[in-house]
Amino acid sequence: MIPVILCGGTGSRLWPLSREAYPKQFLSLAGSQTMLQATALRLSGLAEVQAPILVCNEVHRFAAAEQLQEIDRAPQSILLEPCARNTAPAIALAALAATESGEDPLLLVLPADHVVADVAAFQCAVDTARGLADSGHLVTFGIVPTTAETGYGYIRSGEAVDGGWKVAEFVEKPDLATAEQYLASGEYSWNSGMFLFRASRYLEELAEHSPEMLDACRAAFSGAICDLDFTRIDAEAFARCPSDSVDYAVMEKTESAAVVPMQAGWSDVGSWSALWELAERDDNDNLLRGDVLAEGASGCLVHGGNRLIGILGVQDLVVVDTDDALMVAHKHRVQEVKTIVQRLKQSN
Ligand code: GDD
Ligand code: MG
Repeated sequence: MIPVILCGGTGSRLWPLSREAYPKQFLSLAGSQTMLQATALRLSGLAEVQAPILVCNEVHRFAAAEQLQEIDRAPQSILLEPCARNTAPAIALAALAATESGEDPLLLVLPADHVVADVAAFQCAVDTARGLADSGHLVTFGIVPTTAETGYGYIRSGEAVDGGWKVAEFVEKPDLATAEQYLASGEYSWNSGMFLFRASRYLEELAEHSPEMLDACRAAFSGAICDLDFTRIDAEAFARCPSDSVDYAVMEKTESAAVVPMQAGWSDVGSWSALWELAERDDNDNLLRGDVLAEGASGCLVHGGNRLIGILGVQDLVVVDTDDALMVAHKHRVQEVKTIVQRLKQSN
């Protein structure tokens, strides 16, 4: 089994800490390790696990390599994307790399930016999923939903199979009304964004549902240049690849999806409020990091930079200070931080 760690996202909802140059997966948001390091360390103890393949943008190559070196976890390769084409092509590149020598390993696809509190439960779910992946299924790991979150994929389970269920329906990022209906029905789980399947099965599904993507990835991988630990994907060919996530391109369409439940204290730390929720807070429900003085404040998250911050008499505020940007937001609106990032991009 080869872990494929996806670390090419931008994490824009955690601005201004998460930046294009240093996105969320390379930050220590929930503990002393960075999220990428925690992802790699979570693999120790899994049976028959090889060194991971990392797939990231070429601008992040040194951050990715150095962070793994720091924890003494050498990758088998780091595939460098010249541009972002979302997760379906990133996984295709990893599947092509994994099958290059004629082997056909299981791929354990892992986003590099999730918190998993219970590593034993994570590993137990992966072990349970092996049988299903061996029999040709594309396995997702299902999380019990707690809110009508619209940023996730939703999975309705069908008939029981070997430690899990066939997926009867996979719906990526439904609108709010649909998500509310799914939550109320009690029939759906969230897609954790982690997957287990045989490399060849993924490539077969891509050939069926998105042949242009597979062709572009094959061309981009065959034109790749190896440079130390890095594999530089061919820029011209990859630029021609359609951009799509694995969820839309494959999981919504395949007939072979299965789901295994995972109750492992999972969070995708998708926003400042998610971080506030999962971290330990003080008696006033504040999460204060850095040099912060709080008086009569509650429910706040303050992430300080290099200077002292004082907050007084406020509730549910998020304050994030960095060297060149300060954000003050209401905790219930932090999902919209993305819009500030979009405006910034437009004005640059
Ligand atoms: N290499 C690479 N290239 N990695 C990428 C790219 C890319 O172009 N785009 C995103 N990633 C990485 C991100 O860094 C993250 O680790 C992972 O792939 C998932 O991408 P997100 O962009 O964070 O996806 P999402 O959160 O909107 O949705 C996915 O995760 C949800 C759970 O957190 C989906 O799988 C949903 O169905 C799922 O519920
Ligand atoms: Mg995500």
